[in-house]
Amino acid sequence: MKEIVEAILVGETSEAAFAALPVPETYRGAVIRKDETGLFTGLASRDKDPRRSLHIDEVATPELGPGEALVAVMASAINYNTVWTSIFEPLPTFGFLERYGRSSPLGKRHDLPYHVVGSDLAGVVLRTGPGVHIWSPGDEVVAHCLSVELERPEGHDDTMLDPEQRIWGFETNFGGLAELALVKANQLMPKPAHLSWEEAAAPGLVNSTAYRQLISHNGANMKQGDVVLIWGASGGLGSYATQMALNGGAIPVCVVSSPQKAEIVRRMGADLVIDRAAEDYRFWADEHTQNPKEWQRLGKKIRQLTGGEDPDIVFEHPGRETFGASVYVTRRGGTIATCASTSGFMHSYDNRYLWMNLKKIVGSHFANYREAWEANRLIAKGLIHPTLSRVYPLAETGQAAFDVHRNLHQGKVGVLCLAPEEGLGVRDAATRERHLAAINRFRGV
Ligand SMILES: NC(=O)c1ccc[n+]([C@@H]2O[C@H](COP(=O)([O-])OP(=O)(O)OC[C@H]3O[C@@H](n4cnc5c(N)ncnc54)[C@H](OP(=O)(O)O)[C@@H]3O)[C@@H](O)[C@H]2O)c1
Repeated sequence: MKEIVEAILVGETSEAAFAALPVPETYRGAVIRKDETGLFTGLASRDKDPRRSLHIDEVATPELGPGEALVAVMASAINYNTVWTSIFEPLPTFGFLERYGRSSPLGKRHDLPYHVVGSDLAGVVLRTGPGVHIWSPGDEVVAHCLSVELERPEGHDDTMLDPEQRIWGFETNFGGLAELALVKANQLMPKPAHLSWEEAAAPGLVNSTAYRQLISHNGANMKQGDVVLIWGASGGLGSYATQMALNGGAIPVCVVSSPQKAEIVRRMGADLVIDRAAEDYRFWADEHTQNPKEWQRLGKKIRQLTGGEDPDIVFEHPGRETFGASVYVTRRGGTIATCASTSGFMHSYDNRYLWMNLKKIVGSHFANYREAWEANRLIAKGLIHPTLSRVYPLAETGQAAFDVHRNLHQGKVGVLCLAPEEGLGVRDAATRERHLAAINRFRGV
């Protein structure tokens, strides 16, 4: 591994040099173990501690298959899916790996008694499998997390519709929170040259998800002037949705839960901010009953901020807790785009407000390659910036996931894998210089 890191640190990119480097037989990765899926039985979600379930183990390097690439991972990032995996909710992810294992001989490689997690990476291609022609050893890359087989017809219009669609590092093994990762070559995208390894790794999953959910015609199809209510606006998804609304000419109304987080979105350029903790919204009177008066109170607050307008789009992901309110406050004919249910997946809402007012609920999940590429292009062009608040070494992946689980973080939490320190990997200093003020403003979140 030492030779690989040295080659990357000196900025070596020649195919021959990388192809000559031996691939290690084992590598260190953040894993959960199959024999520990009962670790948290009986505990409330909040008390399930990723620091106990995520281990840094030495694991075998997988065999490289057709259409695949083996990548030396310089940095990765925590996504909420790693929180779900590490607390074994809603189900242990070994079920995904077993199902993948039954699908084909290549899928079988993924069905192991450990799961190397992580759905983001920035690094360098070490090897490519047969049938890979546009990527080579030495290419500096980021990887999006859509793994598809595309053997059947359903996915050929929108690859997210492929029946064999999986989220890499969540529904597959050999993810990005590790020194090496196995990806399909059609997950690869160029690393934005003006960013460090950890900055380049951070936006991936959430930036692409926010792009499809908010901008794509497969999502809410946002246009200039739209009022967009963004839950968790300083968080992983929200900090990218906020930037997209701002630079797309829309009007974000940012919901956060503290004055510090309100300051973060203001620094991004958003003026209309709601502190949900200060407002103390109680959308649920008790566990079974919602309180429409509280939905109205939120709606009134939004109108106060927007000069009387209701949201054209609600960017939803908290789920059960907020969904009734989201459906209520959306304007007539507007769209509630949802990609998650952090607070519970059994939603309830008053359907009269939906059908009588011709609103739409749009389900959105990650992004297809085209959408992920377009989202990464925004990063590469300095139109969207990484929102990285804290970076941990690989050995502290459990702590990094704990921070996200407990909502102690802002923006994204990064992890250094092979990169020995932060700030390395910038190849285009001139572009960085041009965007430096913005990079630092967003990095600080
Ligand atoms: N389907 C997909 O492709 C996809 C992709 C990415 C993420 N996700 C899912 O989306 C969710 C959010 O991911 P993320 O990366 O943005 O996580 P995150 O970084 O934790 O940000 C989510 C933010 O939502 C807010 N929030 C949490 N619980 C809430 C509640 N009960 N009511 C109102 N706001 C609440 C919090 O902000 P404040 O405390 O400041 O309000 C939190 O910081 C997760 O469930 C994740 O698994 C799905």
